[in-house]
Amino acid sequence: MTLLIIGGTGTLGRQIVLQALTKGYQVRCLVRNFRKANFLKEWGVELVYGDLNCPETIPPCLKGITAIIDASTSRATELNSLKKVDWNGKLCLIEAAEAANIQRFIFFSAQNVEQFSNIPLMKLKQGIEMKLKKSHIPYTIFRLTGFYQGLIEQYAIPILENLPIWITNENTSVSYMDTQDIAKFCLRSLQLPQTTNKTFFLSGLKGWVSSDIINLCEQLAGQSAKVQQVPLSILKFISQFFGVFEWGQNISDRLAFVEILNMENNFSKSTFDLYKMFKIDPSEIIQLDDYFLEYFIRLLKRLRDINFEDVQKQKTLII
Ligand SMILES: NC(=O)c1ccc[n+]([C@@H]2O[C@H](COP(=O)([O-])OP(=O)(O)OC[C@H]3O[C@@H](n4cnc5c(N)ncnc54)[C@H](OP(=O)(O)O)[C@@H]3O)[C@@H](O)[C@H]2O)c1
Repeated sequence: MTLLIIGGTGTLGRQIVLQALTKGYQVRCLVRNFRKANFLKEWGVELVYGDLNCPETIPPCLKGITAIIDASTSRATELNSLKKVDWNGKLCLIEAAEAANIQRFIFFSAQNVEQFSNIPLMKLKQGIEMKLKKSHIPYTIFRLTGFYQGLIEQYAIPILENLPIWITNENTSVSYMDTQDIAKFCLRSLQLPQTTNKTFFLSGLKGWVSSDIINLCEQLAGQSAKVQQVPLSILKFISQFFGVFEWGQNISDRLAFVEILNMENNFSKSTFDLYKMFKIDPSEIIQLDDYFLEYFIRLLKRLRDINFEDVQKQKTLII
């Protein structure tokens, strides 16, 4: 089976690439910048040039491909790219996949998309889900929760840099996941025919409220956090006023994301069934405490190394 992975340079995409290679799949990545994607080539990936902004570049990338894993999304730093990438680009991709007789198309959406069609990315995700369902391509859709990786920027770094952490006054819990575990589900679905033409709500096993995450980071960093609360009503007003939304960007957007995840939903009771169906032992799943612990250990080691190098340099200068 030859896989085409789109978004291989991204947070989730690179984990999928790594695990796919380990499992022995032939992996091709559609990339728009070979230099940036060079690390994928070093891992053993075949790189092909493609840009979701340029539809004509897409069909040639699909030659000889059995399955597509689309882990791409517009970069929030690129102005006006949302509709071009997450709508126009994806429509072209679906069209090309249908023409190429692709055997499986994996798409990543987000939880609670229906309730947030006022947020452009959510509306586009919902639209692409519908297009896929109407196509003749065997698909699997994963509606994802937030990634552990996003919590570093949201909580760990502000604590370390003594910057404020913005949270809402809601106290509902979110079952975040590590992208390594999401990648596991994604690749397992290729081996399970019963996951074809299905939508799965993927989430971790333990819910976390903001204050618990802050406490954990404070303990690991040995520093206190400066917490700023934004009432949910004000957040709603801000997101309606600006009408924009991209993952992990400015404060109002980030909080809007928290709001999306915080919606009461009923997926948690079926989470264990989902793990069973995918034959993934819940004890294999990376816990948030362990993820943060490893992050802080690596960071402190890095800081120690930098200090050591600085001291050595100073010593050389003194000599
Ligand atoms: N992050 C979350 O918490 C979260 C939550 C729920 C769902 N999701 C979904 O999960 C998926 C993966 O998210 P992520 O956070 O891992 O994404 P990410 O780190 O932002 O990476 C985005 C990827 O898309 C690629 N890309 C952007 N524009 C492109 C274009 N014009 N043509 C080709 N490729 C392009 C990027 O390539 P370059 O490196 O060249 O820019 C990069 O590889 C997305 O569908 C996202 O919506 C994410």
